Amino acid sequence: MPAIVVVGIQWGDEGKGKVVDFVAEESDVVVRHQGGNNAGHTVWVEGIKHILHLLPTGVIRRKTCAIGSGVVVDPRVLLSEIEECRAKGIELHPGNLKISRNCHAIFPYHIRIDTLLEKRRGSSAIGTTSRGIGPAYRDKIDRVGIRLGDLATPARFEARLREHLGYINDFLTSFYKEPAIPFEEIYEPYREHGKRIEPFLADVPKFLSEASDLGRKILFEGAQGALLDVDAGTFPYVTSSNTGTGGACTGAGFPPQRINGCLGIVKAYTTRVGAGPFPTELEGEAADRIRNAGPAGEFGATTGRPRRCGWFDGPLVKRTVMVNGASCLAVTRLDVLSEFDSIPIAVKYRIGGEVTEIAPEDLTVLSEVEVVYEELPGWKVDISKVKRWEDLPSQAQGYIRRIEDISGARVVLISVGPNRDETILRAPSVFGAFQDGR
Ligand code: GDP
Ligand code: IMO
Ligand code: MG
Repeated sequence: MPAIVVVGIQWGDEGKGKVVDFVAEESDVVVRHQGGNNAGHTVWVEGIKHILHLLPTGVIRRKTCAIGSGVVVDPRVLLSEIEECRAKGIELHPGNLKISRNCHAIFPYHIRIDTLLEKRRGSSAIGTTSRGIGPAYRDKIDRVGIRLGDLATPARFEARLREHLGYINDFLTSFYKEPAIPFEEIYEPYREHGKRIEPFLADVPKFLSEASDLGRKILFEGAQGALLDVDAGTFPYVTSSNTGTGGACTGAGFPPQRINGCLGIVKAYTTRVGAGPFPTELEGEAADRIRNAGPAGEFGATTGRPRRCGWFDGPLVKRTVMVNGASCLAVTRLDVLSEFDSIPIAVKYRIGGEVTEIAPEDLTVLSEVEVVYEELPGWKVDISKVKRWEDLPSQAQGYIRRIEDISGARVVLISVGPNRDETILRAPSVFGAFQDGR
């Protein structure tokens, strides 16, 4: 019954897509359990770039995939992603794609409200992806959202939409002085979307339980990152779901005692898209140097925004590794640091008179911390062709060992380029690395 959860350990875009695609080779089932199409997971296979926003990355390796009820699904995006896959020769059908009927749907009014709320926040805007994620989760928690199972049942969909759209239109017209959204504008096209999605709807918890009973290897593909978690992240500059290990249990309907562990994904440095504190952030040319180094620059896979860049932040990683129980780590984009003579790494924070090696629970104070850096020697050679740990320059090995010391986790995978073969595995297999029960 092996099952592991992939969790982004920073602010997202750590390279989860690349690592999930790599680990999918040894997996039987790949599951998305939270977030929505705010995610952008990039995978390069034989010169072709795939960016997946909603479908689990496992579709690329033709693995059976599932979308749990914790995911908010924009039906238009789902259907167009299924079509895009088909155009690439990846056929998705009810046998290999199972979507929970309890997933909440994102409607155009969620996207409109997301944009209006951001405008209203002014200088304290979160910098959301404008995909309607927050408003869709709000409707879910408020118990007024519409689920995919409703969408596929016309009479139920009609009744729920009539009731809910009345409330939404009151809000839009009286609070925002915006035009109301006509019922037919949503009902007609979304009823059609519901019909097309219906064949994929399945009892995902039951499917996963049976797969687990049969000994299938299940890989949970987290989206966003631990610091964007609505509970444990840099609130309010976070997304609206639980991005950590526990999110896999609630978002897929899978029991914690069946999960063997968490594989944390960390970039060799740090990036962030959107607003919020970022202690090791670099400005101007220093940030550009990281942003433009390496084969793919640091620009958002979903919105194309330039990512904010900075050095590796030890106290934050130590905290998110602890919170998520990430006993193993994959370090990505190590090749990007190859051009630096020496590489600063944050090892401690000074907060008031105190020195700490672990970021505090109240992450709003991050904007006030003084970062203590250590300078590690660079390696200054191309490492993108290295296949074995023994062949990495000693300085690159030293950098990885320092990440292990700081985080307390074992680095089992090192990524030195965006392609599948640009990967160094330090264990016989990734699932195998968790078999000792850690
Ligand atoms: P995700 O959201 O965590 O899946 O990450 P993104 O796909 O948004 O961003 C990661 C970017 O880094 C993508 O462009 C990947 O193709 C790329 N990438 C992943 N691993 C590596 C690596 O080891 N080296 C380099 N240079 N690029 C990588
Ligand atoms: P992947 O899965 C990086 C950020 C947004 C914003 C905040 C809230 O590719 O790592 P939202 O639209 O979710 O309400 O925006 O969260 N954000 C991401 N940043 N990678 C992501 O996904 C993100 N998904 C959301 O930039 O700061
Ligand atoms: Mg991304």
